[in-house]
Amino acid sequence: MTEPSAITNPILKARGVTKSYALGAKQIEVLKGIDLEIMPGEFVSIVGASGSGKSTLLHLLGGLDSPDSGLIEVQGRELTRMSGTRLSGFRNQSIGFVFQAYHLFPELNALENVALPARIARKSSRQAQAFARQWLERVGLSHRLDHRPYELSGGEQQRVAIARALINQPVLLLADEPTGNLDSESGSGILELLLELRDACQLTLLMATHDQAMASHTDRIVRLNDGKIAGF
Ligand SMILES: Nc1ncnc2c1ncn2[C@@H]1O[C@H](COP(=O)(O)OP(=O)(O)O)[C@@H](O)[C@H]1O
Ligand SMILES: [Mg+2]
Repeated sequence: MTEPSAITNPILKARGVTKSYALGAKQIEVLKGIDLEIMPGEFVSIVGASGSGKSTLLHLLGGLDSPDSGLIEVQGRELTRMSGTRLSGFRNQSIGFVFQAYHLFPELNALENVALPARIARKSSRQAQAFARQWLERVGLSHRLDHRPYELSGGEQQRVAIARALINQPVLLLADEPTGNLDSESGSGILELLLELRDACQLTLLMATHDQAMASHTDRIVRLNDGKIAGF
């Protein structure tokens, strides 16, 4: 008999997730029933042509938008049933998100950008800054604490964004084309960093990319095609 404690539950589970957008009088069905499970510690990439719905799916899985139907669970908690404020709190604590275009606050320096989610989680300013300093060190930017985004290279900005996404120690990191705006050398550096962090922090990672070479470094590849997960 299997001990119940020996059964590992997925960190992320999606069942029958659909999403359409209205385009004038027409509805475009982007996601037509997505089923996906990601186990703790896995690094999974979602590949698919531009426009296939990778960003749409990641936004739904991260609770940044809601599906038309279907279920999404992160660590056994059903995002699709959470109210706005509970969902924001859960996102802040449990899900990190990294965007292709970094989305840092231009008026804040690297340290302040990274500290922000910890402040939102009601850490004291002192503690948030101490954590932010540690995370910036971890991503190789201890010499860039006072720099604003425009004073940083693209690769450095993405490292700041990764530190910001991880400061509250989420269980899940979602990365949407994290190397999409970078030259291949900085892009490889970011991928290496994500692989390192996954090992060091017991992180579960889902990365959208249209770059097959990037995807080939991850544990598992799922393909998005015609609104469905097409196979591995
Ligand atoms: N907010 C939106 N309103 C209308 N259509 C959208 C919106 N976001 C995405 N789409 C459409 O949904 C499809 C999937 O887009 P997206 O998820 O960005 O794909 P990918 O990230 O794979 O390039 C595209 O046809 C896109 O034009
Ligand atoms: Mg996209």
